[in-house]
Amino acid sequence: MANEEVEVKDIDIVVSKADEEGNITYGNPIFVKLSGYSQDELIGSPHSILRHPDMPKTIFKFLWDNLKAKKEIKVFVKNKTKDGNFYKVFAVVRPALNPNGTLRNYTSTRRRSNPKAWDIIEPLYKELKEIEDNQGIEEAENRLLEFIKEQGGNSLDDFNTVMDKLQKL
Ligand SMILES: Cc1cc2nc3c(=O)[nH]c(=O)nc-3n(C[C@H](O)[C@H](O)[C@H](O)COP(=O)(O)O)c2cc1C
Repeated sequence: MANEEVEVKDIDIVVSKADEEGNITYGNPIFVKLSGYSQDELIGSPHSILRHPDMPKTIFKFLWDNLKAKKEIKVFVKNKTKDGNFYKVFAVVRPALNPNGTLRNYTSTRRRSNPKAWDIIEPLYKELKEIEDNQGIEEAENRLLEFIKEQGGNSLDDFNTVMDKLQKL
């Protein structure tokens, strides 16, 4: 079996934690199970071990820009499993800070994503990837901003609000 969707159930809460470079420091049992890797293979590996080729660079750049600014981000993610299948989630990724304000770690809490949202997100991601390849990431970032405006937002600060809205369609 390859390139088939693995179901994420309504009750599943798929959690992982990362150090400041994005290396996996913890994964809960469902995170490990969905990935197809063993816990040993995951811990210490970069989160990009899960990266699916359909995911645009622009989205991860935006994710990291927000995390570095100590902001949480809500994002639709398609992940690749070890055996070449995939699963889709709605992720909330947030920095956890120490009492003195320095970074403790990053946590991603993923839930089943709304298929209706993917009807909108999938074409967007496809378009972003095409723009990245043909015109570069800056143009793709402009397209992302345009998309947020089409969805009723004013600026990229409304990204999370728009993603929340799509998850609730
Ligand atoms: C807490 C946390 C969770 C992440 N989860 C995922 C994930 O599930 N899938 C994924 O492809 N990238 C995830 N990332 C982003 C990766 O670090 C990475 O930016 C992304 O896979 C793109 O790879 P690249 O930066 O090497 O191009 C996560 C990052 C953090 C900080």
